[in-house]
This record gives sequence, structure tokens and C-alpha cells, in this order.
Amino acid sequence: MCGIVGYIGRQDAAPVVLEGLTRLEHRGYDSAGVAVLGSRGIRVVKQAGRVRELSDVLPKRFAGTTGIGHTRWATHGPATDANAHPHADESGRVAVVHNGIIDNSAALRAELTDAGVTLASDTDTEVLAHLVARSDADTLEGKVRDALRAVVGTYGLAVLHADFPDRIVVARNGSPLVVGVGDKEMYVASDLAAIVRHTTTVAMLDDGEMATVTAAGFTTMRHTDLSSTGKTATEMDIDASAYDAGDHESYMHKEMLEQPVTAQAVLRGRLDERFGTAHLGGLDMDARDLRAVRRVKILGCGSAYYVGQMGAALIEELARIPADAEAASEFRYRDPVIEPDTLYVAVSQSGETIDTLLAVQEVRRKGGRCVGLVNVVGSAIARECDGGIYLHAGPEVAVASTKALTNMFLGFALLALQLGRVRDLSIADGKRLVAGLEKLPGQIEEILAGEDDLVAVAKSLAEARSLFFIGRVRGFPVAREGAQKFKEISYRHAEAYQTSELKHGPLALIDPEVPTVALVPRDELTERNIGALHEIDARQGPLVVITHAEVDLGEIGARRIDVPRNEPELDPILLTIPLQLLAYHAAQHLGHDIDKPRNLAKSVTVE
Ligand code: AGP
Repeated sequence: MCGIVGYIGRQDAAPVVLEGLTRLEHRGYDSAGVAVLGSRGIRVVKQAGRVRELSDVLPKRFAGTTGIGHTRWATHGPATDANAHPHADESGRVAVVHNGIIDNSAALRAELTDAGVTLASDTDTEVLAHLVARSDADTLEGKVRDALRAVVGTYGLAVLHADFPDRIVVARNGSPLVVGVGDKEMYVASDLAAIVRHTTTVAMLDDGEMATVTAAGFTTMRHTDLSSTGKTATEMDIDASAYDAGDHESYMHKEMLEQPVTAQAVLRGRLDERFGTAHLGGLDMDARDLRAVRRVKILGCGSAYYVGQMGAALIEELARIPADAEAASEFRYRDPVIEPDTLYVAVSQSGETIDTLLAVQEVRRKGGRCVGLVNVVGSAIARECDGGIYLHAGPEVAVASTKALTNMFLGFALLALQLGRVRDLSIADGKRLVAGLEKLPGQIEEILAGEDDLVAVAKSLAEARSLFFIGRVRGFPVAREGAQKFKEISYRHAEAYQTSELKHGPLALIDPEVPTVALVPRDELTERNIGALHEIDARQGPLVVITHAEVDLGEIGARRIDVPRNEPELDPILLTIPLQLLAYHAAQHLGHDIDKPRNLAKSVTVE
């Protein structure tokens, strides 16, 4: 959450920083600001609102070749001009931008106030500016070290000081920071997306590390004693265009349409047609280790949790191992029993979600084995896990996750297949599923090609204030993910229910104003699902049914969306794709900012 960009070099810093901030806006977008260090010291411009509004108010003369900027997702204090970063000390000689949370900020604010400091904002971050300014160390690194000694919490931090105009000092503890190397110019950012157009030669800081960044280069050191960590930059294999929306009207649209290609990427090289299995070298588990697994527990948040439920069903079905998914945000608070023969699986697009990261740490602290299904290579969760499966979905920018979630499902399918084949899943079933997985990218493409046909349905759903998404067994997590996507970007109340539970309460809400989106694949529950549709239809509840062409809905008055058939175990992902399109077009019809839904941000790095 929140984005940091910094520049030091030969050009004016402000335009470079602003451009970087626009690339990070999906991480927080309620306020933004820039500080530039020029011949007249540090000048800060910041305000509530979007980055483009900030660029409109920047003074024409805003020269200085060193600068830092920030785009915010409010934690402490509302989105106001005063609470926007950068924060400065009273003299205006220090400016800081910060991602993360300073847990002891209330105590530090009280101490500073007692010492006569006038605080200018409600934020936790502001204390850092005052602490740096009040340190009597004679280097900027020493001042930052002193400030960090006083704080408890998480941070990605960048600091400017007018007395040290040749440098930006950055520090990391729990919030990512990357240093980018240019030609006599250097960049800092909380995310590669901000700087890949300028450089792909980068160094990622580790927790507990600080860096001094000058126009000529950078050096890294430990926070605690400023001893060198000697980190060097490496060339990353990154396609900078993957971070652009191209001709698409939004990142979400681009990312949905990329799915046939990104789905192939997660499967590539991992399927074994001959033995009807999958090979996941990154798990670092041989057949004996895999056979020793007695239970699987999947941990993720939001949509990753719902896909985790789809994954648990797949694992239980194919490998016949008890498996379930749990919201990682709750896990550590119930002091969970960690079993040595349980395989814990953390699932995350960003690899930064703090609740998931802390759940992994809880497992490992108690001696459990946790593997990751993670998209962002080298991210905190990927590094914390004992091994895992990278999702290879490419950069995902839209807050509403689509292609990464599809690849999570496919990652779980690969894991289930491998776990199944070291147990009792027959080679015939293994081959059947391998063939099904190979067919999936083409079938996803087929569904996406029908996008235009879904627009009218999406518009009609957008008109409802409240709607249900229903499914059974394999279909229930799909309904949860469909409702999640719909509410995230359309701001409509969308509630997921097991179809079987409708008559136990929520049926009372069904009337002509409350539509239901029902998942009715051709499987062993089709007839029972159709029974529930009759109950809704009898109460004039509008129905949209995602189904297979073979399913006969009889007299039921429903709008139907047919998806191609695959193996029943793989149905969930094909049923999910139309739900993405429905949410997208409903939000578009309502005129919402699809990539930056209100109150949300990509990567939830605060508890
Ligand atoms: C997905 O559309 C949501 N924005 C959100 O629920 C997300 O899946 C969740 O915050 C987990 O994120 P992660 O995959 O990066 O850990």
C-alpha cells in the first residue's frame, strides 16, 4: 500500500518522480506529494487527490535534481493535504516518505509534543521527519539510524536532508524498496513498476538494510550499526511494456484478456503427459516428502483465499488428502496448532500481503513447512516460504485481480495432480487432467471472445442495489470470488451463498429487484441446482445462469451464459471468467474508476 519514488541525477527530479508515481497509483491514491531538494533547500508540494491533480498544481519553477514522492492509502488520519507525504520537520530541512506503519507512533508523537515540537499532521510517518532532524549524528545515515532505533513497525523509507544535498537515504523493514542504477543518475522506488522504463539494473533491499543513494551510485548497510552489506545491482529480465496498459481502456481489461497467454506460462514445462502428472521442482519436495503429507492447509486473503478454497477442493478430490483454506488474516490470532505432517500453502499475487506473510511466519515459527504460490518473484512471502510455485502471470496492476487468480487455480491444479499421482490417482485420471489443463488456455480465450454478449447482462446487474452469487461444492468458492469481484469495482452489495443454503434464510430476500447469478455446471449436482433455480424463479427473482450448453434449464426464465466443458474438477476456473467480465462491464456502466476502486489499494501491506 502506498508508493514511493525517488530520483537523484542530472535532470529535474519532479517530472521523473511524478511519472513514477502515476505508475504506482494503484498502490494508494487518496493523496500524493513531491519534495525536491534544490539550491534553495527542500520544497514540498502535496495534497489530497490523484497524482494528475498534483501535477496540475506544481509550481512552474520547481527545480532540483534530487526528489522524493509518495502516493498514499490513508492509515493514520484522513486523506487531507496535511496528511499527504512527504512530511517535513519544523525547520523544513528534512523530508520523508514512508510506506508501512509505525506502531509506537502515538507514544512518539506524545514525546515530541512534550519536547515542544508542533506536529503538522495526524500521521505516524511525521515522527520520522522530526526524529531524523533531532538526531545529533553527523551523517545523514547516522541520523536515520537514530530515528529507526526509536521506532517499532514496518517501513519502506526515503529521506532527504538539506544539509546532505548529494544523497537520498532509504531504509527497509517489511515494505519493499528497490534501488535502480542509471547513467550518472539513480532511482529509488517501492516497486519496480515505477522505474522499469528508466532502468532494469536494480538492487532489492532486504529487511534491516539501508542504502545511501547518490547520483554516482549506492552503498548498502545494516540499520543497526551501519556496517556494510555490500549489495550490488543485478540486471533483471523484465519487459518494461508489460507494465503498460497499451491500447486497453484499463489495466483490468488488459489483464483479463492476457489470461490465455499467462495461463500457458504457469503450465509451461510443468506437465508430464507420459506419466499423467506435474513436476514442481520449486517445491523442493521429493516423492517421499509428498507422500508424507497428511493434510493441506491453504492460507491467503481476499480473492486469494477464495481461490485457495477452489485449490483445497481440487487437492482433496485428486489426492484424497484432507485440505482446506483459511483467511490468513485470522489464522495467527487463533494460536493455530501446527502439525508436522501438514503442508501449509501460502497464496498471494503480490507476495507482500502482510496478513499472509505473518501467517507464514506463524507456521514457520512453530516448525511447520510452508510453500508459496506467489506471482511476484523475490517478494517477501516467496522468500519467507520453504519453496514454492511461481505463478508467471506477469505484472498485475489492476486492484481487482484476474490473471493472477487464474494462475493460482492452475498452480493448485498442478499441486493437486502431483500430490495425487504420488498417491492413488490413476495414470488414466492423471492423463485426463493433463489433457484438460492443456485445453484450458484455449477455452479461456473462447469465453473472453464472447465478451460483447455479456455487456447487456452486466448492465442489468449493475442496476440492482443488491445481488446474490450462488454455487455448490466446487462452485461455491467461484460464487464467493464472483461476488468479491462484483462488489470491489461496482460497489454493489453482492453476497455469495451455497445454493443449498438459500432456502435456510436468504430466500426471504429474493424478489424482482434482487438478481441471482447462479453457477450450474453439468455435474452430479445439476438437477439439485436446477431445483433451487425454480425456487428463485417462482419468486420472480431475476436469474443469470453460468452453465454448460448441455444443461437444459427448461421453463426457467433465466439469461444463460454457456462456458466450454472441460474435466469437472477444472470447471471452477472456466466458470470464473464470465464473472470477471460481468463485474468489469457493470463497473464500466456505472462509470467507476475500474483500476482504482474506492477505499482499496493493490497489495495490502498493513494489518
Ligand atoms: C482481489 O481482487 C482483491 N483486490 C484482493 O482480495 C486480493 O486478492 C487480496 O488482497 C490478496 O492479495 P495478494 O494476492 O496480493 O496477497
